[in-house]
Amino acid sequence: MIWKSLVRLAALAVSIILTLGHPTLDVGFSGPESQNKYVFAHFMVGIVENYQLSDWIADMTAAQAIGIDAFALNCASIDKYTPTQLALAYRAAQQVNFKVFISFDFAYWSNGDTAKITAYMQQYANHPAQMQYKGAAIVSTFVGDSFNWGPVKQGTSHPICALPHLQDPAEVSSNGGRSADGAFSWYAWPTDGGNSIIKGPMTTIWDDRYVKNLAGNPYMAPVSPWFATHFNSKNWVFICENLPTLRWEQMLALQPSLIEIISWNDYGESHYIGPFSANHSDDGSSQWATGMPHDAWRDLYKPYIAAYKSGATKPTIDKEQIVYWYRPTPKGVSCPEDRLGAPNGINMLSDSIFVATLLTSPATLTVASGSNGPVSIDVPAGIVTSNVTMGVGPQTFSVSRNGQTILNGKGGLPVQDHSKYYNFNVYVGSITN
Ligand SMILES: *[C@@H]1O[C@H](CO)[C@@H](O)[C@H](O)[C@H]1NC(C)=O
Ligand SMILES: *[C@@H]1O[C@H](CO)[C@@H](O)[C@H](O)[C@H]1NC(C)=O
Repeated sequence: MIWKSLVRLAALAVSIILTLGHPTLDVGFSGPESQNKYVFAHFMVGIVENYQLSDWIADMTAAQAIGIDAFALNCASIDKYTPTQLALAYRAAQQVNFKVFISFDFAYWSNGDTAKITAYMQQYANHPAQMQYKGAAIVSTFVGDSFNWGPVKQGTSHPICALPHLQDPAEVSSNGGRSADGAFSWYAWPTDGGNSIIKGPMTTIWDDRYVKNLAGNPYMAPVSPWFATHFNSKNWVFICENLPTLRWEQMLALQPSLIEIISWNDYGESHYIGPFSANHSDDGSSQWATGMPHDAWRDLYKPYIAAYKSGATKPTIDKEQIVYWYRPTPKGVSCPEDRLGAPNGINMLSDSIFVATLLTSPATLTVASGSNGPVSIDVPAGIVTSNVTMGVGPQTFSVSRNGQTILNGKGGLPVQDHSKYYNFNVYVGSITN
């Protein structure tokens, strides 16, 4: 503990010295937390090589519609089209009054890339569409924990707010020494660390550690609805289930400085909330993401984003609806043609249909899943996630109040007892009036 405090003091001293060295305000280590809250979404630039300005505008407009303030533009160093697409993104954002910032993906960038990263920051830090936090241009990362932001700050004529992804909250103590201003966590799903798969439900055990270690400096918390991936290089699920609402309840209780939704368009890991963009390039994820819309999760996220920004502990419902999500098959379905085999972790999943009710007053939700008889559940006002046992066949949903049916509809996909490939992505739909 004493050693840690000394490290932290030393880090603070280094940070102050670095700050004195150039005319920028060191955002992280000064001033009270009295600013607006912002919500960002992680955007994979690596799959939009062919995007035109209109594609960017379509995505940004859809994000703005639910209260997202900016895209965190995940960029690899190896992609030739990164400069072109970044330029388009900044231009599109400026046109629609949206914001963006760069998230350097250190699976590709390295600590030796200071000059290139500085050049990007110098180019964009004071762009009208750059996301600013307390007057400083936000920059973030995926991994890249040990990158030193000091030289980048010194080489950029606009203040910078570095919010790198730290893989371990214990690293916060040496973070200030690298001139970081806060931290971003990637622990958006239940895990004991790394990519270990544990039973749900999700807790805030990781968030609490980051918040504690950051001691008032900005924490950018991750919010994600799902995780299922099925590549040669990675083939697992995290146990999400009721995460689409549970995670937001945690955020409303925690009220972190900033939130980054993971993700807008990462179809590969099945956590996209953006539209299945017609013009993205397929990294192989079309096998599990085609025909599996997640758009209704934006309807679900919208009232939570508004609640988070206003500091409310509960979302306000303007429009009654239900949002449902379920996998296309029970977990035991075997796919002998799929040479990759079943993803790790699936045994911890339950075969359930999940339904979030968004209601202004209590009502009764009835779900008929396949050949299972209809199940009725009394649900309160607000947003609540219920579940019923998955049955093979069509899915029907209704909500009634005082003997009147107020919402009624069919799931967009029947559950099947067979599939060519393992698919642990979910079909997400909504029923509205
Ligand atoms: C992108 O996709 C839409 C269809 O969703 C199409 O109308 C548009 O022309 C496409 N843009 C480009 C640049 O291909
Ligand atoms: C399904 O709902 C029941 C009853 O509310 C709850 O106990 C259970 O944890 C839920 N299952 C999942 C996987 O969310």
